[in-house]
Amino acid sequence: MTTYEIIKKKRDGASLTDSEITYFIEEYLNGGICDYQMSALLMAIYFNGMDDREISSLTKVMADSGEKISLGELYDITVDKHSTGGVGDKTTLVVAPVVASLGCVVAKMSGRGLGFTGGTVDKLSAIPGYRVDMCGKEFLSTVKRIGISVVSQSDNLTPADKKIYALRDTTATVESIPLIASSIMSKKLATGSKSIVLDVKYGSGAFMKDILKAELLAQKMVNIGKSANRNMAAVLTNMDKPLGFAIGNNLEVIEAIEVLKGEMISDLYEECVALSATMVSLAKKIPVSEAEAIVMDSIRNGAALDKFKEWISTQGGDISYIDNTDKFEKAKYIVEVYSNDTGYVNSMNTEQIGFCASLSGAGRSRYEDSIDFAAGLILDKKTGDFVNKGDRLCCLHTNNKSIIEEVKDRYVRAIELSNKKPETSKTIYKTIW
Ligand code: URA
Repeated sequence: MTTYEIIKKKRDGASLTDSEITYFIEEYLNGGICDYQMSALLMAIYFNGMDDREISSLTKVMADSGEKISLGELYDITVDKHSTGGVGDKTTLVVAPVVASLGCVVAKMSGRGLGFTGGTVDKLSAIPGYRVDMCGKEFLSTVKRIGISVVSQSDNLTPADKKIYALRDTTATVESIPLIASSIMSKKLATGSKSIVLDVKYGSGAFMKDILKAELLAQKMVNIGKSANRNMAAVLTNMDKPLGFAIGNNLEVIEAIEVLKGEMISDLYEECVALSATMVSLAKKIPVSEAEAIVMDSIRNGAALDKFKEWISTQGGDISYIDNTDKFEKAKYIVEVYSNDTGYVNSMNTEQIGFCASLSGAGRSRYEDSIDFAAGLILDKKTGDFVNKGDRLCCLHTNNKSIIEEVKDRYVRAIELSNKKPETSKTIYKTIW
């Protein structure tokens, strides 16, 4: 079949064969198929979808398009985690050392934040000295020696996904479940862990606002992983409010350290335990209730905190900041934001709150933007809390005086008050195995 015929076939709603998918992706990467032809195929996929076989095939070709990490004899106990992105999501900083302290091996490549969501690599970079850019050899030797390493994604990982994602971004084809599922899973398969736990977020601060779409995405990704012979689970988690109380890099690192030191910060602690237990359950093949008990124990007895320190110092980070979190640099302006009204917090526009943090300097709107580690927000009130007029809603931390009034105004508008106490929503909606 020619390039034209493959586009026409998908346009007319038929399934593509594995060899047609392979041909299309490989030729696109080599320059034999141009952007407008790939754009046409992406739009045809956007409208007509792909079946599970096609999605797995697309994922495999993209995973095979670049460097692949091999974890050798450790493979059976390796476990990875991926979050579809949220606001205040610092769970990797907690769950990675928790599961590593229990003998699971974490060899993780993470991304930087963009738009209203933060990224693990930015949070780790906030720890003075921490090196996110280790070469492949050093990354693997660290994993072998201490059972954990988290670095930024290597440039050679899934080049086909990189090229296609850039095109999707400019052709209104990002929001397609087959394309999102294959894009995420191609990177997870290329990084080579045997067990993979996906944290699929839904709600106002998530990429997927709709719970049913999030569930469908989760199911598709679990199917892809299983067809590639991986142990898979997806945990559907609520992002209708920020996770924990801190948003912004230094502030989130401090909050993650508090959890590792045993603070049971409501939804954040619950989610960290659920994700860690799912990872341990898959990697050690034990029931999730048993995994949950040893996970909580590892936090309680300090083993997770010790593993965190070992990991951070091995990657060059200054662990005196962990012992004394007051050492983290503070922003020049710490501004209190007050409520204009009285009532229960009925909803939080979490995407807007993410943008407030980003505007304060904590995030970036383009990949090349730099970020201010000290910037962000500390929340006082979350959904369900009662607020009197004049009560503090949050503290804005920033070094940029010019954004203060805009962020205050946006933040207040992101909080909806009501006379009636809203029903509490669950942090963990369900797990798909
Ligand atoms: N994240 C990815 O890596 N790919 C997508 O398509 C969407 C989110």
